[in-house]
Amino acid sequence: MCGIVGYTGINNALPFLLDGLEKLEYRGYDSAGVYIHTDDDRDVLVKEKGRVKDLEKKVEEFDMRGKSGIAHTRWATHGQPSIENAHPHVSADGRYYLVHNGVIENYKQLKADYLDGVEFKSQTDTEVAVQLVGKFASQGLDTLTAFRKMINLLDDNSSYAFLLMDTKSPDLLYAAKSKSPLLIGISETGNVVSSDALAVLDLTKDFIELHDSEIAVISKNDVQLYNSKGNSYTRNSFHLDIDPTAADKGTYPFFMLKEIDEQAIVARTLIKNYFINGFPHIDEKIIHAIKDSDHIYIIAAGTSYNAGLIGRRFFEKWAGIPTETYVSSEFAYDQPIISKKPFFIFISQSGETADSIQVLDFIKAAGYPTLTIANVLNSTLTREADFSLPLLAGPEIAVASTKAYTSQIIAQIILAAAIAGGHEDLQKELSKLAVDIQSVIDGKEKIKQLADKYLVNADRAFYIGRGADADVTLEAALKLKEISYTLAEGFAAGELKHGTISLIEQGTPVIGLISQSKTAGLTRSNLEETMARGAKVITIATKNLATSEDDIVLPELAGENEMFGPILEAIPIQLLAYYTSFGRELDVDHPRNLAKSVTVQ
Ligand code: G6P
Repeated sequence: MCGIVGYTGINNALPFLLDGLEKLEYRGYDSAGVYIHTDDDRDVLVKEKGRVKDLEKKVEEFDMRGKSGIAHTRWATHGQPSIENAHPHVSADGRYYLVHNGVIENYKQLKADYLDGVEFKSQTDTEVAVQLVGKFASQGLDTLTAFRKMINLLDDNSSYAFLLMDTKSPDLLYAAKSKSPLLIGISETGNVVSSDALAVLDLTKDFIELHDSEIAVISKNDVQLYNSKGNSYTRNSFHLDIDPTAADKGTYPFFMLKEIDEQAIVARTLIKNYFINGFPHIDEKIIHAIKDSDHIYIIAAGTSYNAGLIGRRFFEKWAGIPTETYVSSEFAYDQPIISKKPFFIFISQSGETADSIQVLDFIKAAGYPTLTIANVLNSTLTREADFSLPLLAGPEIAVASTKAYTSQIIAQIILAAAIAGGHEDLQKELSKLAVDIQSVIDGKEKIKQLADKYLVNADRAFYIGRGADADVTLEAALKLKEISYTLAEGFAAGELKHGTISLIEQGTPVIGLISQSKTAGLTRSNLEETMARGAKVITIATKNLATSEDDIVLPELAGENEMFGPILEAIPIQLLAYYTSFGRELDVDHPRNLAKSVTVQ
């Protein structure tokens, strides 16, 4: 979703800003723009619909050498994707330039109350914000006060990350955030602001955290913070230990394939970090707080929700704690009866999903204990929960989540084992699983052939399975929908005959997931039923449950270990989606309309 990058320093800002925008592309966007205050004192604004490379081409027509500027990738919320609606937006008098991530819920009211007669150039909520700053400044307020006054008018449901420039003091950046991410990076050659550290890692790994409702005024060698009362202070920086090349796709055609390939390494990293002397090792305070609870509520969105469905089984079966998994956007407005001693686990890749943050906010206000399991360190969900467990999967760039999903499942397994105690063989079992993950990845050519033969030309597809396999069908269908635009559905195999079977026609692909011994036979019967109606069935089964007819045979997972089935199944379902999208020559990493980090509700 929208990406922000800003620079004030001693070097030419433009290449830095454009490079930053490219690195933010993964978040999903539909237009982009950049504003530079040039060395010869001009204000140059260039915006373009489409990709960052389209903006880069347009920028070539302008002389934009200058040492400060702001840039933005926009994911449309108010007003269609267009040059007019792209950011930065400008105040009517041309003095202020502003980029924004988030949603100003009361923008219509603010426009009616304060901006009567002001001519608007866009349909965006953002333009209201910059027009307000311009108006307040024209009434005599200094920029900081005008900026604060505008922010104070935004209602509680609004979310924002703002980066503002004043053409009268063009070496300064004004930044503020609430419920949307924004970081300040510091370096010898200049200071920067970005919605994601990844965009600026080539310049710096040293950052200053900006808290909700603060304003930062940033010059090339100073960062002043102001609270909502206008008091000024500074904050120490922290060092982010990320390898910038981790966000490089190397020789891979797409990040998604690279990230699928990294899953065995990610499993090993989790094992290395969360075991000591062969035993699961998680902060005692977390274990104690969960043991003290009578119910676990897992809250998440999208793929993270699907990982939470799998984790639930381990918390119940191993740790013996009743557990339910909820979609965060639903839980926010439609809660069940909460138990007497609940414990809340938030699962997220980005740690910035607005739907989940919204739930965390009111769960915290209710005084319930919270843990976030997320991939992005220092994200809002990790910072604001009582406890956090990092997923250590490394940057995930492709919009479709892959390695974060498997790492979320493995992290929950380790946590459940740590709560339960025992499980002295778990480290060995997970290490063997990492080897098995690699062997499934190594068989990707066969999966590509299946995708090419049965999915690339199909307009719909169904995944079925039972028990934990049914949970995986949801993720499998989501992956296929997200990146290949195939109308896909995943559901409990037993439900097929209650409706969906009417959609089976000659050649419709139906993919069966079989890793659970108790229900393998039943799922196979359901697959037969679809075959009898013309379906092309593809089976993915673990070796111990496989027949010679199965299309993809996963390594053996017998006995209790069949609970790990979803982790091995994750690989072929991701690869089937990947190769279907690839076979259709789609932009696998940037599916239309989707964003990596969804910072609006
Ligand atoms: C977006 C992404 C999904 C992701 C979901 C939840 O929709 O495209 O891949 O699963 O958000 O995001 P989170 O960062 O909270 O896991």
